[in-house]
Amino acid sequence: MRKIIIDTDPGQDDAVAILLALASSELEVLGITAVAGNVPLALTQKNARIICELAGRPDIKVFAGAERPLVRELVTAEYVHGKTGLNGPKWPEPKMPLQDGHAVRFIIDTLRDHDKGSVTLCVLGPLTNIALALVQAPDIASRIQEIILMGGGFFEGGNTTPAAEFNIYVDPHAAKTVFTAGIPLVIMPLDVTHKALTTAKRIAAFRGIGNAAGKATAEMMAFFERFDEEKYGTDGGPLHDPNVIAYLLEPDIYKGRKVNVEVETGSELTMGMTVVDWWAVTDRAPNALWIKDLDDDRFFGLLVARLKTLP
Ligand code: BDR
Ligand code: CA
Repeated sequence: MRKIIIDTDPGQDDAVAILLALASSELEVLGITAVAGNVPLALTQKNARIICELAGRPDIKVFAGAERPLVRELVTAEYVHGKTGLNGPKWPEPKMPLQDGHAVRFIIDTLRDHDKGSVTLCVLGPLTNIALALVQAPDIASRIQEIILMGGGFFEGGNTTPAAEFNIYVDPHAAKTVFTAGIPLVIMPLDVTHKALTTAKRIAAFRGIGNAAGKATAEMMAFFERFDEEKYGTDGGPLHDPNVIAYLLEPDIYKGRKVNVEVETGSELTMGMTVVDWWAVTDRAPNALWIKDLDDDRFFGLLVARLKTLP
């Protein structure tokens, strides 16, 4: 079993990523840490608990983390995710408690309490909590097995500005802190997530599972995709965050390259841009595995097979 912490700002696609993790016996979810991003923190921590209950896992520890980015003002994305961040299904109020204590403390303590190199961080939102943990406790950098994150875009450009993807744009200073910490990094950028589309057939397959998780996933996707369908003119929208978890389960679904990635924090025009040295035209050392391609049918097949095992 691989031990993971999920850091997240749910978000419908974050929700599906959490469901996939909780449906996978190869993964032990040590805790879920919420961050402000798609919607403010009060909603992301609540949404994380809603999803744990949907998965029949009210025992999962959910912590609240940073309320705003390190330097810049918080930018949210209700225009994509709806007012609650989880628009689509009708949700009950969660009954499971939010844990006492700050998410950043939980991340630091968990990494120190476990064997070196035995805990992986799966990051689905702005990198604020992870950067704060690294600043408060630099010793944890060498204890992290790997960080797998959704963020950035190079060949696809940005989805929030022409240059920047949402998670990196919201907290570029945090992203820079994480990208330069010397931790093994796997990055799922728009370059790959834009190839994982929630087509009508795939939404029907989620609905066809026949359980609560499948129904909620179909309803969330139907709401979530409308914005991107209109923007990109595609059948379905990109399903971003679950790729982070799918990579852990079946890495050979994905293809990428070890490259140097730097984050722009100086220019307002290109703030949060991920500058990828894909062709190795500099002598900057590679710091990440940048994923560019996936077998999209296998990805959606894995999702359906795993969500089937949930309530
Ligand atoms: C990322 O931003 C959020 O809207 C999604 O949850 C995903 O993590 C995509 O740019
Ligand atoms: Ca997210």
